[in-house]
Amino acid sequence: MSDSSLRARLAALRDQLHHHSYQYYVLDAPQLPDAEYDRLFRELLDIEAAHPEWLSADSPSQRVGAEPLSSFSQVRHETPMLSLDNVFSEQELLDFDRRIKARLDDAVTPTYACEPKLDGIAVSLLYVDGILVRGATRGDGRVGEDITQNVKTITSIPLRLHGEGWPEELEVRGEIYMPRAGFERINAMGRETDGKVFVNPRNAAAGSLRQLDSRITAKRPLEMSCYGIAHQEGEALFTSHSEGLLRLREWGFLVSPELRVVDSIEGCVAYYQDLLARRDGLAYDIDGIVFKVDSLALQGQLGFVSRAPRWAIAHKFPAQEEITLLRDVEFQVGRTGAVTPVAKLEPVFVGGVTVSNASLHNFDEIGRLGVMVGDYVVVRRAGDVIPQIVQVVVERRPDSATAIVAPLTCPVCESLLERAPGEAVLRCSGGLVCGAQRKEAIKHFASRKAMDIDGLGDKLVEQFVDEGLIESVADLYLLTVEQIANLERMGQKSAENLIAALDKSRSTTLPRFLYSLGIREVGEATALNLAKHFGGLPELMAASEDMLIEVEDVGPIVASHLHAFFATEFNRDVVRQLCERGVHWPSAQKQGGAQPLAGQTWVLTGNLESMTRGEAKEKLQALGAKVAGSVSAKTDCVAAGASAGSKLAKAEALGVKVIDEQGLLDVFASSSNVE
Ligand code: IVH
Repeated sequence: MSDSSLRARLAALRDQLHHHSYQYYVLDAPQLPDAEYDRLFRELLDIEAAHPEWLSADSPSQRVGAEPLSSFSQVRHETPMLSLDNVFSEQELLDFDRRIKARLDDAVTPTYACEPKLDGIAVSLLYVDGILVRGATRGDGRVGEDITQNVKTITSIPLRLHGEGWPEELEVRGEIYMPRAGFERINAMGRETDGKVFVNPRNAAAGSLRQLDSRITAKRPLEMSCYGIAHQEGEALFTSHSEGLLRLREWGFLVSPELRVVDSIEGCVAYYQDLLARRDGLAYDIDGIVFKVDSLALQGQLGFVSRAPRWAIAHKFPAQEEITLLRDVEFQVGRTGAVTPVAKLEPVFVGGVTVSNASLHNFDEIGRLGVMVGDYVVVRRAGDVIPQIVQVVVERRPDSATAIVAPLTCPVCESLLERAPGEAVLRCSGGLVCGAQRKEAIKHFASRKAMDIDGLGDKLVEQFVDEGLIESVADLYLLTVEQIANLERMGQKSAENLIAALDKSRSTTLPRFLYSLGIREVGEATALNLAKHFGGLPELMAASEDMLIEVEDVGPIVASHLHAFFATEFNRDVVRQLCERGVHWPSAQKQGGAQPLAGQTWVLTGNLESMTRGEAKEKLQALGAKVAGSVSAKTDCVAAGASAGSKLAKAEALGVKVIDEQGLLDVFASSSNVE
């Protein structure tokens, strides 16, 4: 190819890659398969390697990072990076509104822009002629550090502006953060490799940005959400803050999809309540809401006090991290014999709930934290994740603090504890001899996603085992009303109900039955794959490890657990007894009926009235559909019940088909394969 046509090809590749990474990272609506994107990217790298003189600052190749720096240089912020005043209650928020109104003319009622307050690192980006030329940290607000190479690796930051109408010089401010899923992922990796983990996503984002080697930053899952324009060359292009943010979105920046404008402070209160209720379900940590007077003219009239604008306020959420006392450590034995150290804490209100227990996972984790009984510890509870101890406050350690010692024998059955080579977990060797393992196995068997035995809660299972009424799950089906009616907290009516529920559970499905056996590493999805693959239980029980590995998503470890489970005499007996005592499921032929939704991906969201989401999921799976947790351009259909939220909005934005509950019932009714 001639130089001029190669250069043209290079320019075309850059355009295409810019376009597709914007579709993918900012709009969340990919238009190309990943493999095709990678192919274009490699082609670009090849051309640039052959012609280093053609490299440009805005080339997508800049995303992979550059040679390490020896230090960061300083950057002076022409427009200082301010902070925000905080309020912690509704009353204080109303006072803020009153102060604003007192400063403005009588006739004016300000509207407010509402945005989540992302918990990350404030950054300023400078674009000249549409090209990103500088990224800087906040520093002390006047002087920050030049982190241009690092910000270039962040895929949601445009290297060149999209669209048109942008000013020659544009300075954009926003927050760089690490989404929770990415944080969990890099911490899991850190735990496995060098044992280093970050305390929270904010520290992870800060640590990743502080790298002098931007190739490390490039490997960290960072995003940037933009919340303001610090400076723009030339005439004013908009009259309100929210309008500015919407233009930023057109120019290629990620702006929070939660941005709303409300016409009164009551609207702010409602926004706060709504987002607080949805906080746990968000993909990233937020520590409050920022409310800003939307009109730029009114902002100008209100001005600043010392280091914060008068026209904005942060309404903080309850903290997701608190300090409390570690009183004791107990050891709990789980269904598979894993012995988990559980921290007994001085109760503390964190992340919206009172926490008095936190898992310490295993002794590697205890060693990593260096935690002792009597320590003050930082407890974090964010998202749906169970509370974690993330740090010890070493300065507050009392002289009386004592080391946490690993037990040698099971705290329940006194069998020896074992630690498999390379595993961090201590395990009770007692198997089903161990009362704790037996209890947990029965609780799991009765649980909603397993045999769904209504009314058979954890407490009752413990009582049945402690009273010697049952030893295995199969014994449940021998229980009689007379046997249990006289137990504490029971009575004739509850006893009758429980026996009826047990009877009802006899009629089940093969995937549910397999899942309920509580085989290590066999979750719902694996159980479903096993049932589909083998069709019947005898075929599965007779399968060798090699045959098991052929099942979708079953690797050598799961195969060995399955094989060991069915090779154990006790387990085979229990399975046989369950079948003898009436547990049954539709035969393979009936299950394997028409699968009209085969190959389709569905998402369920919102509240359904006529069934639970779990039931709807099972029915969709029986019709061949894959049921996913999040909406993407690849989703075939979203079934949205009442008060569906962000998934519905996303489906609509992506043009994915959406049906309501009645529509879902129609789909079930029109398929012959319904239970
Ligand atoms: S506006 C002049 N909006 O909170 C106003 N800040 O406590 C400057 N932050 O340093 C900030 N989300 O790092 C604004 N939607 C948002 C924000 C936000 C997070 C951070 C920002 C700032 C700090 C102030």
